[in-house]
Amino acid sequence: MRIPSSSAPAVAVTVRAVLRARRPDRVAGPALRLPRVRPGVARAALVVACAVVLLDVAAALAGSLLLRDPPLPGLGNRAENVAAIALPRDGAFRFAVLGDPEERPSVTHALLHQAAAAGADFAVITGDIADRCAAVDFAHFLWNWSELGADARPTFTAIGNHDKRGADTALFARFFGPEWFSFVHGRVLFLFVNDNDPADAARCEEFVRGELAAHAGQFDRTALVMHKPAIDYLKKGRVVRGTQTGAWIERAFGGRPPDLVLAGHYHGYVRRQAGDTLHLVTGGGGGNLQGPNERYHMILVDVLPGEIRDSTVPLDGWPPLRGKLEWPLAVSAWPLLYGTPARTGATLVLTLALVTAAWALRRRPRAAGG
Ligand SMILES: [Fe+2]
Repeated sequence: MRIPSSSAPAVAVTVRAVLRARRPDRVAGPALRLPRVRPGVARAALVVACAVVLLDVAAALAGSLLLRDPPLPGLGNRAENVAAIALPRDGAFRFAVLGDPEERPSVTHALLHQAAAAGADFAVITGDIADRCAAVDFAHFLWNWSELGADARPTFTAIGNHDKRGADTALFARFFGPEWFSFVHGRVLFLFVNDNDPADAARCEEFVRGELAAHAGQFDRTALVMHKPAIDYLKKGRVVRGTQTGAWIERAFGGRPPDLVLAGHYHGYVRRQAGDTLHLVTGGGGGNLQGPNERYHMILVDVLPGEIRDSTVPLDGWPPLRGKLEWPLAVSAWPLLYGTPARTGATLVLTLALVTAAWALRRRPRAAGG
């Protein structure tokens, strides 16, 4: 139907009048029937909606900014990271040992800054990089490590029981390299093994025997790095018989026991000399501490000609506050809200619906006497 141009203003006025007259019916109609609420309730709904939007935005930013993809140069069991270690000075070198960063990689980050300031040439982690074996957890650890900047030192790690899914270690390998690893530095042979499952004792023994033979003549001392200690110790009030699960060490090394056995698993600190072997258990790198007098710490080891010295170094100050915020956002909230395309879509749709409903309630007049 064509409308003469001379009639257009009159038609427009009429249409506006009709729409204005129909508006209350449309708002109150069945399609948009909303409950009448007190203004305070409507304002509270709007505040909740804004909080949800803020959480969505913060989680999205955390997922974008606080995660890194592997491999990260300098971090992990790789030959190029061994080559990056500073050469020993007069046959001496220093390295840092820390364990079980788990849900507070910010603590490990702070300790690694301290290690660099103390002159450590490299760092060794005794396992349990993350609280759970998931890509986002490892990626968040990588971000913490990448933020070390000039204080980053080559860092190697044993695999912990939290870093694998049953016998599946593929994710750990993608982020940190092989869990069976060795290198020689300053005539010390470092051996990394996966001792988490007692059923793997034979494989540990076989690996160590093989590496000792393969590097014969290249080393004078040995350092075994693994997750579960090979000494008896108290954990949460219970005696753990590490000497039983670690009995393979004596068989593997034969008449020349390791000089150092570095382990974690217990979120605390134990130092014990057993014959020629010094056992250092350090799990104070970020996980929840498991003893009454434990504290976050690392160990500095000085390898000197004919001597090995160790000292514990506590974390300077309190665990970084930012860790309390970034971990829940990047590691917990982000995968929950945006971990898959379907979750991202659901998050956006639900957030939009919540905000729309809250805004409509806010604009809805309160019922008379209601
Ligand atoms: Fe742990």
